[in-house]
Amino acid sequence: MLPASAYAVDADIRRAESLPAAAFTDVEFLTRELETIFHNAWLFAPEPNSDDDTRSLAAQVAARGARAPFAQLGRPLFLQRGWDDDELRAFGNTCTHAWFPLVQGPSRGPTLVCGQHGRRFDCTGRFVSQPGFAGLPDFPRACDHLAPVAVAPWRDHLFTRFAADGAPLAETLAAVDESLVRFPDNLARAPGAGVVREVAGNWKQHAWNYLDRFHIGFIHRAPGGLADAIDLASYQTELHGDAVLQWAWASDPADGIDPALLPARFADPGGRRVFALWWFVWPNLTLNFYPWGLSVNVYQPVPGRPDVTRFIWTHHVLDPQKHAARDRRWLSSQVDAEDIDALAQVTRGLRSGLAPRGRFAPADETGPHWFHRKVALAVTP
Ligand code: FES
Ligand SMILES: [Fe+2]
Repeated sequence: MLPASAYAVDADIRRAESLPAAAFTDVEFLTRELETIFHNAWLFAPEPNSDDDTRSLAAQVAARGARAPFAQLGRPLFLQRGWDDDELRAFGNTCTHAWFPLVQGPSRGPTLVCGQHGRRFDCTGRFVSQPGFAGLPDFPRACDHLAPVAVAPWRDHLFTRFAADGAPLAETLAAVDESLVRFPDNLARAPGAGVVREVAGNWKQHAWNYLDRFHIGFIHRAPGGLADAIDLASYQTELHGDAVLQWAWASDPADGIDPALLPARFADPGGRRVFALWWFVWPNLTLNFYPWGLSVNVYQPVPGRPDVTRFIWTHHVLDPQKHAARDRRWLSSQVDAEDIDALAQVTRGLRSGLAPRGRFAPADETGPHWFHRKVALAVTP
């Protein structure tokens, strides 16, 4: 790692330099990010990616005693609904005896029995019994019970946090919630629309690019690009603590969100309609609300590999007909392909070893500046 001062990002966008290239290529910097940013933040729990069972993760663990496995940053975890209470808990999916994964798929019951040597846990994660362990001194120890991970629901989704302490999820998402008070929260998971890809580029390049309105007129240019579908001059970037909202009027009001679904501040007496609410939630989640529903993107770092990102993409449908037209009217696949290609090129550009720290265009790059500074403060406080 470079000295901490080499990563500092000035609060004044007119003076600030971007994070150095090393922050995007250095394995040690990625390790530090995992220990700080990804340890302390609420992280979206990726929805199960199965065509057979399209229930959300939250639905899979709605009933008393229900449990379901999932992974966060490649780490196996499981969710467990209480048997004697309604509480939802999350634990490492690792037996405390000899580390066998405890939960292989959705199941339900008052106790959980490990498949390798029969250790039994209750629905609060406490060791109950195991053959051969009766009368052992100093047993069970605290670490023979399962270690909890924080979990919190949001609409039909779940977030987890490895750190035991921190602000509640509702605080992180307060501004997002304010924008969604009239937006339905019972969207249906689109079958077969889940995508998990390993794509080129550090996770921060994807977040940076998402927050960058400046590239739209170039990478998504007219004719036929996103720059045509929106009124680019109306593009707004709003910084809200741990979340950033970007939005613009649709060029054609028929492609805009029904004003009845949005707060009054998005109403336009001239009849213009919002093309999308593009929410970025620190550190690596985007929630994209369109007339057809919600597109969720997660940019997961891959431990030990700073030059790739695990890109998770699911759809949650409000209007099936509009969802079917998402590529034609909202350019869903086209914008995605253009961004993925641009970031593969940036990743190649970085390999020169001659990339200086950049500067920010003050009117156009408030989102990227916010993000770079937040990373710097979190990793090298
Ligand atoms: S690993 Fe679970 S009982 Fe041995
Ligand atoms: Fe883009």
